Parts: sequence; structure tokens; C-alpha cells
Amino acid sequence: MQIVLCDDAEQTAREAAKWVQALLVHKTRPVLGLATGSTPIRLYQELIQLYQQQKISFANCTTFNLDEYFDIAPAHKQSYRSFMQTQLFNHIDINLQNTHLPACSQGQNPRLVGLEYEQHIAAAGGIDLQILGIGSNGHIGFNEPTSSLASRTRLKTLTAQTMSDNSRLFSPDEVQPTMAMTMGIATIMDARYVLLIATGLGKAEAVRQMVCGPVSAYCPASVLQMHEHAIVVLDKAAASLISDQQYLKVAEQENQRMIEIYGLQFIAES
Ligand code: PGA
Repeated sequence: MQIVLCDDAEQTAREAAKWVQALLVHKTRPVLGLATGSTPIRLYQELIQLYQQQKISFANCTTFNLDEYFDIAPAHKQSYRSFMQTQLFNHIDINLQNTHLPACSQGQNPRLVGLEYEQHIAAAGGIDLQILGIGSNGHIGFNEPTSSLASRTRLKTLTAQTMSDNSRLFSPDEVQPTMAMTMGIATIMDARYVLLIATGLGKAEAVRQMVCGPVSAYCPASVLQMHEHAIVVLDKAAASLISDQQYLKVAEQENQRMIEIYGLQFIAES
């Protein structure tokens, strides 16, 4: 894991944006994995700014979102499709035909929808860079604790912890979905690079388990210890329970020096 320690949430967004920028600049047909939730919003704002400054373009970019609530209309204001439109897609030059979410409605067979999503990702050439948040229970996407580390895109039942964490986003008169389609852990692991962002004290214990704990289905994010190119961008609060911070700081200074000399080690141009 490359752990990038930042002072605050603003800096985490700027650091994360550098990786996305490098992908969009270096690859002719970049494939970007996207996440929803509170954490990536600042990153999306950074990307919108970079787009407005004409430093990046999404014109040739294909995107795949991690997850979508089960049986929710795309136009519903709580759908992740709506989230992506509002937070990113409406403000950039992306072709909406190239944006994908694993939407599945009541009448559809979730197994087939999951399989088709995997096939779409493969047909696009695989995901170059997958953006991730982390749940306070260690989930990535909606791969809740106990998810198979070999799982693929499928329907998952949300845990009480996730329901409670996300309840802040729903008004009292809105029904909160209990199930979602999510990329599987193996789907996420197939991405060439993964970029996980975590901010705030509420994520500190999950981050500690992800970085310092054993690889375990009980903390799905811990599987990233097995990923060849996992970049973890943390603010001080989210990193506060990681042991040996001094080593991480020294290692990160060295990383930054290497990046200054050689640029971001990144996906070959194609
Ligand atoms: P959050 O969600 O960014 O809203 O905290 C992260 C996640 O559940 O992956």
C-alpha cells in the first residue's frame, strides 16, 4: 500500500485528484471506477475545477460506479445515478452513454445484471483506476463484512451499521433502501490501481484494521493489502490509529521525492 498522509480533507481531495488527472492525461481511453458517499465529493469538486481550467477532459473516459441501490429509479433523488449527475457528470464533458452504474430493478434478475456489469467492464478493457471510500465497518463498495473476497457484482443486503451511517442522508419521510447492487471484492481487485480516500475520526478504526489488521472478510478493505497498486489517502484523523506513523511519514517523503523525479508511477500510455 502507498499511504499518503494529509493534513485535512481538502488536501486528501487534492492528492487524490492528482492520480485521476494523471490517468486522464496519460491514457487515451481511460476507464475510471467511481464511488459515491460524502468522502469523494471534495475530489469531484477538484476534478470539476481541473476540467474548468482545461487541464483534464473526460470526453474519452468511460466510468463504472461501484454500486447502486436496488430497485431505485435513476431519476430518484437518492439514487447514485442522481448523485453522480449532481456531483460530477453535469459539470464535465463526459458522454453519459459511457457512464455505468449497476442498476437493477425489481423485475430484473440481479444475477444476470451482475454478470452483464462484469462483462461491460471487461469489454471496456478493465478499470484503470478505482476510487474507493471505506465504511466505518470496513466495507468497500457495499461489500459488507463477511463478503467473499472472491465476490463479483451482485445484490447485497446492507448491515445495520451501514443503514445507520447512511440514514443522515435520508429525510424522515423517505424509505431507506436495504439492498444494493455492488461490484464484488474481486471486481475491485481487478482494477489496475485503486485509490481509497478516508477522512475523519469515524473512519480511524476501519482504516487501522485495513492497514494494520489481518486480511479478513470481516474487514473487506483489508484485502487491499493484497493489491499491487493500492493508494490510500488519509487525513490526520482517519490515520490516527495506524501504528508507526513516523515510518509512514518518512516513506511518504521518499515517495514524493520519487514522484518529483519520475512522475507518478502510472498506467502505461495506450
Ligand atoms: P462516506 O461513505 O464517504 O459517506 O463515509 C463511504 C463508504 O461507505 O464507502
